[in-house]
Amino acid sequence: MASEQDVRAGLRRAGQEHLLRFCAELAPGARAALLAELAELEPEALREHCQRAAAASARAPGPPPDLGTRLRPLPPGCVGSAIRGDPAARRRWEDEGFRQIALNKVAVLLLAGGQGTRLGVTYPKGMYQVGLPSQKTLYQLQAERIRRVEQLAGERHGTRCTVPWYIMTSEFTLAPTAEFFKKQGFFRLDPANVVMFEQRMLPAVDFSGQAILERKDKVAMAPDGNGGLYRALEDHQILQDMARRGVEFVHVYCVDNILVRLADPLFVGFCVLQGADCGAKVVAKAYPEEPVGVVCQVDGVPQVVEYSELSPETAQLRAPDGSLLYSAGNICNHFFTRDFLHAVIREFEPSLQQHVAIKKVPFVDDAGNLVKPLKPNGIKLEKFVFDVFPFAKNFVAFEVGREEEFSPLKNSDSAARDNPVTTRRALLSQHYLWALRAGARFLDTHGTLLPAEPELSGSEDPPACCEISPLVSYSGEGLEEYLRDREVKAPLILDEALAQVLRPQDS
Ligand code: UD1
Repeated sequence: MASEQDVRAGLRRAGQEHLLRFCAELAPGARAALLAELAELEPEALREHCQRAAAASARAPGPPPDLGTRLRPLPPGCVGSAIRGDPAARRRWEDEGFRQIALNKVAVLLLAGGQGTRLGVTYPKGMYQVGLPSQKTLYQLQAERIRRVEQLAGERHGTRCTVPWYIMTSEFTLAPTAEFFKKQGFFRLDPANVVMFEQRMLPAVDFSGQAILERKDKVAMAPDGNGGLYRALEDHQILQDMARRGVEFVHVYCVDNILVRLADPLFVGFCVLQGADCGAKVVAKAYPEEPVGVVCQVDGVPQVVEYSELSPETAQLRAPDGSLLYSAGNICNHFFTRDFLHAVIREFEPSLQQHVAIKKVPFVDDAGNLVKPLKPNGIKLEKFVFDVFPFAKNFVAFEVGREEEFSPLKNSDSAARDNPVTTRRALLSQHYLWALRAGARFLDTHGTLLPAEPELSGSEDPPACCEISPLVSYSGEGLEEYLRDREVKAPLILDEALAQVLRPQDS
């Protein structure tokens, strides 16, 4: 255990000795915990971090004034599409994706270290359930999509295959996530193929460059951003684990998109056949101020300009056809080769930009009282996962349909968008349309036929409630065998058990 003397000497070098100002009055347990936390902070790195945070917050807020002139949309040559163009090309991409999955070369990696502040829950967002009839959580939907895509690839290639699931957590999310997975029996995945690892935390710093104490015995710490991924991969030797398993391609995604297609064969196959080392899924932005990053070029190099850093004037610009000029919305679904991740860790990670977030950080004042500030008082520095795009040798983007693939849970129901109601509706609308396309006709609870509505507005619930388990269908495939020319009573929950009942008997 670190001695108080050693810790104090380190903090003095870092200019942060104030963190021990209540040490003498702490009970032995609390004191040991504080010393242990502080001993983890390397003095030189802590000094630099605090200075950098204070300097960054002193700079003018907002994006660099000339950013607008340095932006260009992505060149069409590096953009593929799941919704337009040649269907034969799409089949080729999908075949290639399934082939790579069947060869055990594809893994998924979930970024789940965020605190879910906007949603306002105290537990990890993946444990949230938006009120589906099945009451499945985001984690469960994701686990089941992994199982289904493994099954589909296995059936095509006559093999058994695995898509390992790497989950990056933080100090806030690791324990509850691990406990939840255990309690849920890992959603019937093999626990050996679910690898959780923790990202680093960084102290929040005040405007004078002093790290903040949130309690007498605790420094205010925050995860180092989803770009903390690269250091975490190195800290926990994750690329070595991938190499042992033969994984070459990684689909990285964020936790809150209820429609996320894990290890999407179409996206993976497109990236592989393009010879890409790095790729991003995009959707056309719904409106100029939509809070999604824009995938574009800055000074001729692919990059995401985050919504908080794009000026309203640039966000409004239109192309000659009337569409938004910068419309390639980042949905936080990225493709990386393992080799590229290796190069990032080896060469580029230290040069990744640090983004500044100014927040209200509760703190103890000099008299030892806990203060909840009314104005922002603290600086958090974060790296972003997509800031590695400029280092790619062959970057591609892949356009997908919003209705099929993007509905994020960001906010509580008090917000108008991206909340539990909108995400639940997005999933149920998708499943209703899949069922209609497969030939189902819906009856209400009295047995009256409901009119089919193949076009949904998105602002209302579909006319019949239908939820299809990912274990039955990953992206709408294979439903005809259960639903063609069938009259089904709403609500319909098509899970594995009902699929057994509806399956035509072999003659
Ligand atoms: C993110 C994207 C944004 C995109 C949007 C789409 C980033 C930096 N921004 O924005 O460009 O348009 O999603 O929905 O990627 N996380 C960690 N560790 C952290 C912080 C976050 O693992 O330290 C995870 C979160 O758990 C989440 C993901 O990263 O799964 C995205 O984080 P969030 O803060 O929700 O990003 P957005 O602002 O929504």
